[in-house]
Amino acid sequence: MCGIVGYAGKDRAAPVLLDGLQKLEYRGYDSAGVAVFEGNSLRIVKKKGRVKELEGARSLCGRVGIGHTRWATHGAPSEKNAHPHAYKQFALVHNGIIENADALREECLARGETFLSETDSEVVVHLIAACYAGDFGAAVRAAAKRLKGSYALAVLCSDFPDTVLCARQSSPLVVGKGRGGLFVASDLPAIAGEGVEVFALADGEFATLRGEEISFFDGEGKPVPPHAVAYRFREDVPEKRGYAHFMKKEMSEIPAVMAKNAAAFLESPAFSSFRRALLGAERIQIVACGTAYHAGLCAAHAFEKLCRVPCEANIASEYRYRDPIVPPNTLCLAVSQSGETADTLAAAQIAKERGAYLAAVTNVAYSSLTRLADAVLQTEAGREVAVAATKSFNAQLMLLYGVAAYLAREKGRKAPPLGAMAKAARLALSAAEEVRGWTAHFLAAKSVFFVGRGADYFTALEGSLKLKEITYLPSEGYPAGELKHGALALIEENTPVVAVVTQKGLAEKTMNAVHEAYARGAKIFAVTDLPEVAACKEAFASVLLPPCPEEYSPAVAVIVLQALAYYVSVARGNDPDKPRNLAKSVTVE
Ligand code: G6P
Repeated sequence: MCGIVGYAGKDRAAPVLLDGLQKLEYRGYDSAGVAVFEGNSLRIVKKKGRVKELEGARSLCGRVGIGHTRWATHGAPSEKNAHPHAYKQFALVHNGIIENADALREECLARGETFLSETDSEVVVHLIAACYAGDFGAAVRAAAKRLKGSYALAVLCSDFPDTVLCARQSSPLVVGKGRGGLFVASDLPAIAGEGVEVFALADGEFATLRGEEISFFDGEGKPVPPHAVAYRFREDVPEKRGYAHFMKKEMSEIPAVMAKNAAAFLESPAFSSFRRALLGAERIQIVACGTAYHAGLCAAHAFEKLCRVPCEANIASEYRYRDPIVPPNTLCLAVSQSGETADTLAAAQIAKERGAYLAAVTNVAYSSLTRLADAVLQTEAGREVAVAATKSFNAQLMLLYGVAAYLAREKGRKAPPLGAMAKAARLALSAAEEVRGWTAHFLAAKSVFFVGRGADYFTALEGSLKLKEITYLPSEGYPAGELKHGALALIEENTPVVAVVTQKGLAEKTMNAVHEAYARGAKIFAVTDLPEVAACKEAFASVLLPPCPEEYSPAVAVIVLQALAYYVSVARGNDPDKPRNLAKSVTVE
């Protein structure tokens, strides 16, 4: 994780670096720092906390520099662990994890070197210094050969104060040229602009930013051709437009986003190739993390129910290490808002290597996942700023439901139309305002349960994840039928239990679990489209959802749970947009 930036050009570097870091803050906000050349000497400013803490560095005058916003892996969030890390004439910023850092640190300690931080990254700057004999590029390449793990690096050397050197292995890195300068960053939006050409570094490649040119090299120092990234520049400054938080604003966009995404896959430039793979698929494997995994669970349910094609959703970090079986005619759907999640990328790569046709379902057109995939099915959710995913989840669901409905019909089976879903979402959004009145019952809860069966269970999982992420309340999403096998022991007087009940055939069964919890003192909150459930005597409070086909109901019911998490988060005095310890894009294992 972490975001890195670098600049070498005609303008003052500090403002460019700080603006770039602001755009990368979704990758982590534990600490931030910059290093800028003032003449031949390096000025380093680092702070614990968010990028805005670095404002004092904006006045630095130098025209070459690097910057970093951190999501802590090795070492606590603190000023001393903040990047850039410096040693002798070098300073660097790093995104990734160096897996052999301990062994390398031992070597440095044996040479009598001392360390100022607990990070794996500081080891890299020591290693570069140890490999240095006057050739900056050769030192970085030699050091890179000894690193195990993942890294995107931007390095400065005070013997070459006009140069930024970059290296990449399994962590995203792009470089750009234009508007009088050369740029490097973890992600395109940090450097995109009118007239800026952007190039992606491949794994094992290096780039030198100097003067007016960027040069690209392989690990032996041989020049390699640049890989241009085509993108359409849109000045995309996220604004809250009167909402108190991005999360609330992004939720308000859900109905429009849902309307856009039901048929979005038909627009894919690779549609005919994807269609062949879809129609020929004997099984579907979905790989994803976090909220995207929950979208995968919902989609797998719809694929099996509507199309009768075996479909499994996999947590990407588990799939990649379980030696997965990928039989012939497997379609792999890798679902990822950012397209940069390290575990999802690795799982998708494995599925592809083992013969699956790989389709990326992602919100970011130029992401690493799109480069890996055979076909890209782009979700049209627009930029999502809040760390907790909301509208991107609904977009993923609608796109995947659209694919499932399409496949069902191609197989001569029936599938409910998706046309009325956006309207149902609009109604759910206004009904969800009722949960403001529920917050008092959640504020001090020791634990919260979300329960459901069938597709409702997946909604419960996502509702629980939202609550955990932004309120920090312990919560669990549970299959209603499993409650009695353990979790019931945690139910006490007034424990909030949120029951999601939209699957008509399973409603009675879910209600059995609700009765059991109620009998033990639980306070029941029902989220349902069944009037009889909303009005049942066990429900302390309920939100009545608009009707919608039960195969697709998570896309509507989840809106109420997103709102619940949001209002409880605000009532607890948290910033729902930037939950502690979390980042929007997780580019480390
Ligand atoms: C992080 C985010 C989650 C997200 C997950 C997967 O943990 O905080 O909101 O669901 O990564 O991200 P992706 O970009 O792959 O959908």
